[in-house]
Amino acid sequence: MFLTRILQDFAVFGWDFVLSLTNILAPLRPVGHVVPEGHPGAGGHWPEYMPPKEGDSRCSCPGLNAMANHGILPRNGKGIPFKDLGELVRNTYNIAPSFCFFVSNFSANMLKRNYRRDTFDLAELDVHNGIEHDGSLTREDSVHVPDQGTPHRPFIEELLASATGKDKEGNTILTIADLSRYSAKRRVDARTSNPSYSLSFFHKMFASSNSSLLLTIYGGRVDDLEVVLLEERITEGWESRVRSKMGLTIAALNMTVLRVEMGIDEKQYAQSIKQI
Ligand code: HEM
Repeated sequence: MFLTRILQDFAVFGWDFVLSLTNILAPLRPVGHVVPEGHPGAGGHWPEYMPPKEGDSRCSCPGLNAMANHGILPRNGKGIPFKDLGELVRNTYNIAPSFCFFVSNFSANMLKRNYRRDTFDLAELDVHNGIEHDGSLTREDSVHVPDQGTPHRPFIEELLASATGKDKEGNTILTIADLSRYSAKRRVDARTSNPSYSLSFFHKMFASSNSSLLLTIYGGRVDDLEVVLLEERITEGWESRVRSKMGLTIAALNMTVLRVEMGIDEKQYAQSIKQI
C-alpha cells in the first residue's frame, strides 16, 4: 500500500513535469476564455451565488466553499465524489490535472476512502492536521472554533489591508512579501493564544501553498480576494489569472511556495511586538 502510494506520487510528479514543459511551449489561453466553453464560468458567467443554508456542509477552504455557493459543487456541500472533484476544480480555476488529482487523491487517503468509489462532505476535509492546520490566514484555530466552515472576518480584513503592491493597471495587490509577513504574524499569534498549537514542516508547506494560490489564481488582487475570502463568492466576469494552457502545475506553484515560506520570519515579527 505504502509502496503503491510512493509510485503513484512519482507518476503524478512526472505527469506534472510534462504539463509544466507543455506550458512553457504552448500559447496562453486568451483573456476571457480561460474557463473552457460549456463549463460553469465560461465567458465570466458564473451560476447564481447562494450563501450556505442551515445544515449545509462547508470547510476551511474558500476555493471549494465558493464552488458550492455557486452550485458547481453540490450546494449542500455533501456527497461529492472524489473522482469528480479534480475536474470541477480544474475547469473552475485552471489548475493542472496532475495537481487536482494529487489533492483529491490525498484527501481520499486522508479520510481512508476509495478515490474511485467514495464521496465526502466538505466539512469532512477539516481533519485537524490532515490538510487543515493551525495558524491559517482566514480561520481561527480549530481549538477555538471547531466548525471551520465560516471565514474569520478580522483576519481577512487585516490580511487585505496589509497589501503593498500594485499591478500594471494600478490595482492593489498582495505581494509575496506581504503574504510572508502576514503568515509570520498569524503563526506567532496562534502560538501565543493556542496552548495546543502545532505546525509541522509539512503543514507549513501546505499553508504557503494556499497563500501561493492567492497570488497565482487570484493574482493577489485585493478587490477579487475581498469577495472570495469574505463571502466565498466568485465575481461575475472573473476568471483565473492563471492562463497557461495546461493550468497551474505543482511545479509552477512550488516556485511561489518556496519564496513565501522562505520569507516568513517569525522571530522578527515576535521581536517587533516586544518592542511596542
Ligand atoms: C482540490 C481540492 C482542494 C482541497 C481538498 C482543499 C482543501 C483545503 C483545506 C482542508 C484547507 C484548510 C487549510 C488550513 O487549515 O488553512 C484549505 C485552505 C485553503 N484553500 Fe483549499 N483545497 C482545494 C482547492 C483549493 C483551490 C482550487 C483554491 C483556490 C482557488 C483553494 C484555496 C485555498 C486557500 C486560499 C486556503 C487558505 C485558507 C486559510 O489559510 O485560512 N483551495 N484548502
